[in-house]
Amino acid sequence: LGQSLVFKDEVDSTQNIAHQLAREGAVNGTTIIANKQLHGRGRLNREWVSHHDDGIWMSMILRPEMAPCHASQMTLFTATSVVDTLAKFANIPVKIKWPNDLFINDKKFCGILTEMQAELDHIEYMVIGIGINVNQESMSFPEEIRQKSTSLAIETQEKWDRRVLIQQLLVDFETTYREFLTQGFSYVKDKWTNNAYKLGEKVLVNMPKKSFEATIEGITDDGALLVRTIDNNIEKIYSAEIHW
Ligand code: BTN
Repeated sequence: LGQSLVFKDEVDSTQNIAHQLAREGAVNGTTIIANKQLHGRGRLNREWVSHHDDGIWMSMILRPEMAPCHASQMTLFTATSVVDTLAKFANIPVKIKWPNDLFINDKKFCGILTEMQAELDHIEYMVIGIGINVNQESMSFPEEIRQKSTSLAIETQEKWDRRVLIQQLLVDFETTYREFLTQGFSYVKDKWTNNAYKLGEKVLVNMPKKSFEATIEGITDDGALLVRTIDNNIEKIYSAEIHW
């Protein structure tokens, strides 16, 4: 993976470039990295602030031989691979908030966005986008998100070398990806659970048609979130927003 690396200074969104290259036949593992994004995007079409070259904004094209129903697991294992990478550089308590956010000390510093082009029974390609706030200072976040955002530099009080971090991210992602392909999701399940944010705590589960309080219990073998409702039922959540 990452043998075909595309570096750009400024792009609209690395996701868009990845989709375009994938449609043109880019090989498995092609990775697009940009210094700045004018229109970085997050899940649910939210904006992902990435106008400056103080973070890692990258998208990877993957062509896994698997059914589209396993795609959500890719987000979860990507999160664990980022946790692995960061543990090699600093002793910081990184937590994974289901399904795609990474937190340090209750603030978000990394988001993962999985998109795909698929038929009913097979994935044509996937684009996994990883955004990591690396060297931002608190004041560089827009006011609306300042309270809930952080960066590696803020948390460790030192500037990070983005190139070194990117190299390690690619190495760890490749290792985790290979294990995932051969051993399946159970390979990362324990690691995910060990780093789960708010495990055993009460949260609010927001779904399009209902919203309820529940305690996070873990994840299932297929990557769904397991919660215990107040009347003690265990529910599997495949798609929702978690708040507290
Ligand atoms: C989220 O938190 O909802 C996901 C954020 C994903 C951001 C990354 S940055 C690189 C790639 N390009 C984008 O436009 N988005 C992803």
